[in-house]
This record gives sequence, structure tokens and C-alpha cells, in this order.
Amino acid sequence: MYKLNIREDILAAFEQPSVVRLSSTGTLAYQRQREETEVITDTFLSCLPALEALEALRTKSPTHFYHAHRTGPMWKQLLALRSGAIEYLGDTANVGALHDIGKRYIPSSILEGASLTEREMKIMRAHNTFSVIDFMKLQIYFPHIREVLPLHHPHYSREEDHERRGEDRRDLGIELPSEVERRIAERREGEQRKPLHFLVLEAGKLLEIADTYDALSSQRSYKPAWPADTVRQHMLARFPEHNWAIDFLSNNYPNPLGR
Ligand SMILES: [Fe+2]
Ligand SMILES: [Fe+2]
Repeated sequence: MYKLNIREDILAAFEQPSVVRLSSTGTLAYQRQREETEVITDTFLSCLPALEALEALRTKSPTHFYHAHRTGPMWKQLLALRSGAIEYLGDTANVGALHDIGKRYIPSSILEGASLTEREMKIMRAHNTFSVIDFMKLQIYFPHIREVLPLHHPHYSREEDHERRGEDRRDLGIELPSEVERRIAERREGEQRKPLHFLVLEAGKLLEIADTYDALSSQRSYKPAWPADTVRQHMLARFPEHNWAIDFLSNNYPNPLGR
């Protein structure tokens, strides 16, 4: 049986040592964050398979489990600032915490490792592929999940990305069930024909921004928390068209080292 304390998990995510915080208690910003937590909690409680997947991630790596629970609400608040995004995405906007769910298939020693070999990095990178397997099962609940959440790692064009992921999988000897392989191939053909909706692309970019903000500002097994200024400079250089989103996160989700 899974512990259905999702609300407490989200709040606890912001209270881990050396991680991004919620706004100060009593502020309007904090009130909004608490309201958002309630909406997100309700969505997860209506989808037991999603809760089950998150529980498995918690067991493998508390660090990545709590990172997921910080990224989810930050992303939702960014989406709310982008006209039409939440209406388009529906409940998918509430489950940003699932963006790294494929990490539940990766060994704890890698997820919590202080330094990784090249092979271990490849295994780590494969998390997006593993996530897709879960997204296929979850898309009956969240129709846009398969399109949007993998976009938080857009380092390669979609076509290159598919090939590279396939190569990594073969190198690592990872075999996907043939049904999954078939669906990935079908999906790839479909994707080549049909460009993604602009709100899906924008939502993916905002997820990348929330994900990066948390990864840089919070402590990980392989790095300390970065100071607010360093995070800001790095992010402005990487996401020059989204300074509004960077400002929002800096103002509403304070850096653990202070300003
Ligand atoms: Fe990821
Ligand atoms: Fe992430």
C-alpha cells in the first residue's frame, strides 16, 4: 500500500537540506503555492499508477524524488503565467513531478553517486527513454504527458535524439518490450509528419527552465547548491527569451544560500 501523503511530500520537498525554498509563510506568494499544492495533490490522488511510480522513485532516490516534487509546482506556476497553457494541457499541468519518472528504473548507486563513469552517465541519460514507457501507460489519464514531459531534455533535435537514445540503449544492452519499440517507431513517424503545438513546445521549455533552476540552486550528490547570482547568470545566458520565468522563480522560490 502506498502512503497517500502527497501534500506532505510536496511541502517536505522544499524543506530538504540546501534546496530551493517556498516563499515566506504569510505572503501572497506562499498562499498561492499552498493552493497550487492542493490542486496538484488532488490530481495525484485521482491517479494511483502515478503515485505508485513516484513511490518507486522515492525508494530509489529521495534526492530525485524531492527534486521531482519541487519541479512540478514551479512548472505549474510558470505555465499559469503563459496564456492558454494550462487550458491546453489540462491535468498534465499538475503532474510535472513525473518528468523524471524513468529514474525509478536506474540503480540507486548511480542516482545518488558523487561522480559517474561514462557508462553510468549513459545509463542516467536513458532515464528519458524509461520515462516514455511510463508516459505511454499514463497518457490515458494525462493526454499530453508523452508529448510534453520528455521535452525537458531538448539537447538534440527530435530526430537525432531518437537515434542517440536508440544507440545508448543498444550500448547498454537495454531491451525494450517489442510492443514499446513498435509504438516508439510509430510515434516517431507520426512526429515527423506533425509538428508539436506551440503551447506544447513552450510548456516543454518552461519545464526545462524549472528543472534547471532546481538542479542548479539545490544540492545534489555530485554538486553543492549554487549561489543565486550564479544560477541567474547561467540561466539568463541559456534561456535569454525567458527572463520573466527566471525572475519569477528567483522571486518566488528562494535560493537556499540566500540572495
Ligand atoms: Fe530529466
Ligand atoms: Fe529533473
